[in-house]
Amino acid sequence: MKIDVLTIFPEFFDAVFDFGIIRRAKLAGIVKIVAHDLRKYAVDKHKMVDDRPFGGGDGMVLKPEPIFAAIENLIGTSDRDSYPKGTRVVLLSPQGKPFKQADAALMAEEAEHLVFICGRYEGVDERVNDVLVTDEISIGDYVLSGGEPAAVVVVDSIVRLLPEALGSETSASNDSFSTGKLDCPHYTRPAEFRGMKVPEVLLNGNHAEIEKWRFEKALEKTRAVRPDLINE
Ligand code: ADE
Repeated sequence: MKIDVLTIFPEFFDAVFDFGIIRRAKLAGIVKIVAHDLRKYAVDKHKMVDDRPFGGGDGMVLKPEPIFAAIENLIGTSDRDSYPKGTRVVLLSPQGKPFKQADAALMAEEAEHLVFICGRYEGVDERVNDVLVTDEISIGDYVLSGGEPAAVVVVDSIVRLLPEALGSETSASNDSFSTGKLDCPHYTRPAEFRGMKVPEVLLNGNHAEIEKWRFEKALEKTRAVRPDLINE
């Protein structure tokens, strides 16, 4: 999978994409990730990437020209109907569709080339959305100062689902949300720590009982904090 990120802060991604599963996936050749400086695609001599909003108001809006030029360079066309199969252009914005585990799974399975556009300031010129963007995504009902942290969240959730990115094939299938509910609690050694004991059931080696306990605990937790996930 190839992932390109369009941003005015390319250095933001240097460290975050160089640890853990993402680093491993990159080294294994499962994914190639490049953060591109939008300013390189600016068309005027001042390298302007944003401008004041038509109609007035606070803040600045990302200009369309650098984003169109970047997409044409990365994909070969600025007409989303002509993108090669498996190509998606994702705009991170608080106005987007809420991003879910199922979306991450679908992208991990189907996408070959993902381009993320990180919005900034007051937003992005709407013509970008009209013509270039295949998916406008929000990572939650709060406003970030830019799309960069959201791009990290979305990229991480997709890359860890790529075949062979996680150490064990089963480790993603038990995740919270993959099962329709939150994950169960986990414990490791020591069996007793500062007087706090690991639940006995996890120590007795009875796998059927352990599975039952995990299922019930996951349900209990989901009912308590995310009743909206349960469709009983
Ligand atoms: N940019 C600013 N806020 C955002 C959010 N909640 N999700 C995605 N991109 C954003």
